[in-house]
This record gives sequence, structure tokens and C-alpha cells, in this order.
Amino acid sequence: MMKTSSSRKIARSPVAQLGLFAEASNLAIKQPLCKNVDRQAIEIALSIIAAETWPPRYKMHKYWGRKPANVVSRYIEFFSRPGDVVLDPFMGSGVTVIEGARLQRRAMGFDLNPFAVHLTGAMLNPPTVPDFEAAANLVVDEVERAVRHLFLTDCDACGLKATVRSIGYLNDEMQEVRYSCPQCGRSGTRPSNAKDVELAAVREQVPSDAPDEDILFGWEMQKLRRRGVKRWSELFTHRNFLAAAHLRRAILKVRDDNCRNWLLLSLTASLAQFTRMIADFSGDAGGPSWKINCYWMPQKWQELNPIWYFQNRVAKSLQSLCDLRENGAPFVLGRVEKQDSRKMPLEDESVDYIFTDPPYGGEGIQYGELSLLWCLWLSEHQDLSSEIAFNPYRQLTQEHYASGLEHVFAECFRVLKPGKWMTVTFANKDPVVWDALMNACRNAGFSLLTAAPMKRSAPSLTETNMHTAPKADLVLSFEKPATGQFPTLKTNSHGNYSLDSSVHRIVKALQGASMNVTAHDVFDRVTVDWFSWFYENGARPNAVQPTLTNVESAMAVLGIPVTTTNEKHSTSTPKRKVPTDAA
Ligand SMILES: C[S@@+](CC[C@H](N)C(=O)[O-])C[C@H]1O[C@@H](n2cnc3c(N)ncnc32)[C@H](O)[C@@H]1O
Ligand SMILES: [Zn+2]
Repeated sequence: MMKTSSSRKIARSPVAQLGLFAEASNLAIKQPLCKNVDRQAIEIALSIIAAETWPPRYKMHKYWGRKPANVVSRYIEFFSRPGDVVLDPFMGSGVTVIEGARLQRRAMGFDLNPFAVHLTGAMLNPPTVPDFEAAANLVVDEVERAVRHLFLTDCDACGLKATVRSIGYLNDEMQEVRYSCPQCGRSGTRPSNAKDVELAAVREQVPSDAPDEDILFGWEMQKLRRRGVKRWSELFTHRNFLAAAHLRRAILKVRDDNCRNWLLLSLTASLAQFTRMIADFSGDAGGPSWKINCYWMPQKWQELNPIWYFQNRVAKSLQSLCDLRENGAPFVLGRVEKQDSRKMPLEDESVDYIFTDPPYGGEGIQYGELSLLWCLWLSEHQDLSSEIAFNPYRQLTQEHYASGLEHVFAECFRVLKPGKWMTVTFANKDPVVWDALMNACRNAGFSLLTAAPMKRSAPSLTETNMHTAPKADLVLSFEKPATGQFPTLKTNSHGNYSLDSSVHRIVKALQGASMNVTAHDVFDRVTVDWFSWFYENGARPNAVQPTLTNVESAMAVLGIPVTTTNEKHSTSTPKRKVPTDAA
């Protein structure tokens, strides 16, 4: 008993956390710290947890903006103990739930998006490997019988029939055919011929249960609207739609629930590859996939063979399955629910730790819209009006977004036990969006404990080479004060925040600790400093939000040489403008 309470005390001290983070990151803390140290010393000591690529258990399906499992686990391990209730009210692809259960926590996840619930629910209920393999083989055999004849071409090497792997198009004009020949074992690429064009024009009866409906023209569908695409089926070529419909039909016949759910996810995971959204970039790393977070139809695109790519996805799902089973969790500890987290079905003070990653507002990812195609094929209905998002195409205003966050964080405060912690990851370049987050956490009653930047090891395509990427992902840890204590705002709230003096302090401190002083190092810490100052002063964050560019300018004014590094900063939100043509 004694032991428990003393270890709790250590965990409560921000200073102890810094020690732990530093130790885990093999960073030596140069000096002992105490709670009263100046913020700059804390920032110096804060190690930055570099995100690692996702373990194979997450390979089975894409989800936009998925958080790195190693960072999530590190926080869960630090802030909670086995048996504790850990909650994520914006669960997404379930990293908190899966990692929490793996770490023996009673992990709970809520999400409004039925796709997120389907995905995480399936991960918590994995079929056995032999059952999954057997079911996948039956499905592939059935679909091959139905549509294989539509994906054949002549092999240049042996003259026999080869399997089409993909066909390059420029708009509607077929260009070259890539094939693999099962007869002679060769693979090749050659210009398409008349027979290829003729085969692509064949029309066959599509199964009557093939999912289709009118497209709702939200933010992410504008590019389709401009191309005159009105129904989801129009994203596919005829034969690919046919093949996808046969796959779905065959999967729905699988009797074992877990196998069926996993196969449905193998289908939704490869669905984008069956559409005209796959750009034909030569030499593009990472294989043909849906890389940008909107629906679009590039002019130069590829028609991929659905059976081939479904089988590839099944192979990835098998890797996830093996990983989950080998490094697995007592899955009974995980619980997921389709739930609007503005009102949570939980008792007051029943949760030990919250780790969450709220929607980022502003130009942030449109989770609901981007899941529409997947949900259509899973026959899941989405309640898009309750989504916490900013979306001028669907009348989701900034006020709707801010009030949504207020409600969810008030609920988080209610369900969290007093004296316990909540970690929130966040990024944005818009001070108005930061203001919404700060207000929501502050008004709920949370005290800011620490803030740390998070870096990604592998930036996505849209993040690459964005030297001026204006933001880092912040990992913010808050405390629900023990009963009766409420966070007090600082009295000096009338002063102005100065980016230059923040840069100055941080550079001095980094130099004093003989640490790197690159623009990126300074930028990371200034971002933390900026957030902390505004949160604690109760002030509305203003336009001096740090960007790499203005941090570099401030360093130049101070006469500090700006070193460029190859590091890339995480920018989880897409680079695009708020539209002026929204309805
Ligand atoms: C930033 S994402 C979470 C991503 C997650 N961290 C991951 O690693 O996959 C935010 C999530 O909030 C969900 N969401 C939006 N409004 C919601 C609401 N009212 N209640 C519950 N979840 C909501 C979205 O569907 C989305 O999955
Ligand atoms: Zn051949």
C-alpha cells in the first residue's frame, strides 16, 4: 500500500517525468530539477520522443493521422498502471486501445465514426491465422472464377495469356500495360494494344448488392465535383467495380464473424486501389496507394488489378494478425463503442488516464468524409452532423468545433479521477484553433503539467520538404487537480508574449547545456513555450505563433547562425486553403 502511494507521488511530479523521459531516450539530465525551476530549464530537459514507424499490427488498414504506437505506449506506461482504466474519447484507429490492452490496462475507446469502431473492434477480435488464410483463399478463388477473364493480356515473351497487374492511363486513354505471366514466369510492360482496349470495354452484370449512392459533396469531394463525378461507383472502372462487388459478396458469405470482419477490412483497405484515385507517378516510393487526404481523379492514373491488390492486402493483414497474436494483448481488456463523446456513458471519476488526439479543426483532416467510401462498403451509416470538425461545406462552423471540444473535455474532466492525468496531442497553424483547444481544457478545469514536441520518423508525402512547416505536434499533459483545487491563472496575464525573447531564452539555455542549436531544435522548444505561456496566462493565442521561418528570423536578429538539418516536421493537417466557394 505504502509502496503504491509513494510511486504515485513520484509520477505526479513533472520533474520526475522529465527524468523518466530523459532516461528512456538516453538523454542525460545535466542538473537536478525541482518543481520551481524556470520553464526554460524544463524545456531543456524535456526529451523529444521520436516517433517510430508503426508495428505490423497496424498494417492491415490505413487511418488518417494515426498516432505513433511507441509514443502512445510510452505515455500510457508512464501515467497509468496495469489494471487501470485508460480512455480515448477520439479513438480513431484505436492505438490507445490496442496499446493500452497490450500493457494490461482496461482500455476504452469511443469514436463517432463507425469505421474507426469497426477497425479497432476487429483488432480486438482477431481470427486465428489458419482460419483467416483459409477464408481468404476461398474468397479469392470464387472471385477469380468470376472476373479473372477481364484481367488478361498477351505475354510478349511467350505469347500466352498473362495477368494484368496494372494499366497506365492518361485521362481516358490507355497507355501501357504491366503484366506478370504465370506461363513463363516473366513480368513486363508494353504499350496497350487493341485487344486490351476491347477487354476494358466489356460490360458484365454487376451484383445487385454492389454498394453505391450519390456522393455527398463535402470538402474532400470538391475535386470529384469539378470532374462531374456524381456517384461513388463512378470512381471505379467497370471491371474494377465488378471485381470489388464480387469480393464483397464472397466475403459476406464467410460464416466466422472475426474472419468476415477482417476480410471486409482487407477489402476496404484495398478499395482505393481499385479506383481511379491512384496516380501514375513513375518511381514513386511506397507503391500505388491513396496518398492524399481527399477524393480526386488524377489525369495520369493507374487501373490496378483488384484481385492482385486484394491478395497483397490480405498478406499485410496476415502480418497484422501474427503480430497481434504474438505480441498480443489480453484482448478482453479492450472495449470500443460508437459514441459521440460530447456525452460519455461513464460514471463520474471512473477513469485513471486519458490519452487522446482530438480532431484538429481549421484545415484539419475530415475524418468523416474520408471514411464515407469505406463505410458505404461496410454498410455503416455515419452521423456526420455530430462530427467535431470545421467544415464550411457542411455548415460545421468554428463555433461548432470549439463547442464540441468544450463538451468533450468537460466530459473528460467529469469521468477522470481527481489527481489523475490526461495527455492530448495537437497541431495546428491557426491561433483560433489553438484557442479552442486551450479554452476547452482550461474551462474544464485541467492544469497544464508538461508539453513536449513530437517528431515523426517518416514524414508523409505531403509533409516532405516543407521547410516552412509551421508547426510541431505537441504532446500536452494535464492534471485534474485533486478535489477543491482549480487551476489559477498567472497574475501577469497582461504582459505580451514575445517570440524574440522566447527564442533568446531558449537559445541561451541550449547553449548553456551544450546542446544543439539548430533552427528546428529552437522551434520545437519555442512552440512548447508559446503554448504554455498562453495556456497559463488565460490569454487568447495571437499571431506570433512560432513558425520555422519566424524562429529563424529571430535567431538571425540575435546573430545566431541558422543551421539547417534534414529533419522534417510533422504536419498532420493538409496544406490547403479554407475555400471561398463553400456553400
Ligand atoms: C485525430 S482523429 C484520432 C486519430 C487517432 N489518434 C489514431 O491514431 O488513429 C480524431 C477522431 O475524432 C473522431 N470524432 C470526431 N467527432 C467526434 C465526436 N463527436 N465524438 C467522438 N469522436 C469524434 C473522428 O472520427 C476521428 O476518428
Ligand atoms: Zn509468358
